[in-house]
Amino acid sequence: MPEPLPPWPATAPACGRVLLRPVTGADTGMAISLSTDPYVSATGTLPVAAGEEEALAWVERQQGRHREGKGFSFTIEEQASGLAVGHCGLWLQHLSDGYASAGYAVAPECRGRGFAADALAALTAFGWSLPGLERIELFIEPWNTASIRTAVRAGYAPAGARRNYPLAGGERRDMRVYAALRPAGSSRR
Ligand SMILES: CC(C)(COP(=O)(O)OP(=O)(O)OC[C@H]1O[C@@H](n2cnc3c(N)ncnc32)[C@H](O)[C@@H]1OP(=O)(O)O)[C@@H](O)C(=O)NCCC(=O)NCCS
Repeated sequence: MPEPLPPWPATAPACGRVLLRPVTGADTGMAISLSTDPYVSATGTLPVAAGEEEALAWVERQQGRHREGKGFSFTIEEQASGLAVGHCGLWLQHLSDGYASAGYAVAPECRGRGFAADALAALTAFGWSLPGLERIELFIEPWNTASIRTAVRAGYAPAGARRNYPLAGGERRDMRVYAALRPAGSSRR
């Protein structure tokens, strides 16, 4: 049995124009939109060009992530409109060793407005509320300038490379690693 994760946050993590909330059945439209980007499918479990049923199955998988001890899976919501603009996750299988990884994707029609950097900043600040978490890593392909810019804007710094990193879909790719460390003075509990 995996160790139980810390509880779901009482207040939705938020930064700038977005807040992070649990994934719900109302997010199938956002999931279908995400699935039109083949790279999102290559890095997660959402099939390319998902239909309603596949999107609902993806939602249900996200809803199980916390219970399964895998991490926190959030919908990125624009605060002003209540619109679901994307998805992000803090993956905590290595929490007992003090580190986690994070991932994020914004629906194609919502890109270019800075949602990803706000979401990653909210996700990272939430991470520092978790006892024992010292380091959050991102694995980004060298061509993915938008993701690298997102990482840097959210306070991540280059931390080397990882050869042959496995994507969720099974492929292996060379990645750049970006990392954020728990800020000095924040509570370790
Ligand atoms: C990466 C991603 C999440 C960025 O989301 P976003 O909300 O559009 O991000 P932003 O609007 O904040 O743009 C991020 C930065 O990248 C830049 N950018 C965006 N698209 C770009 C492109 N195609 N080429 C170069 N720079 C680009 C923006 O100008 C911005 O730069 P700035 O900080 O200097 O202003 C989004 O492109 C996406 O979902 N991609 C597919 C999934 C993915 O790659 N996830 C990350 C896996 S590591």
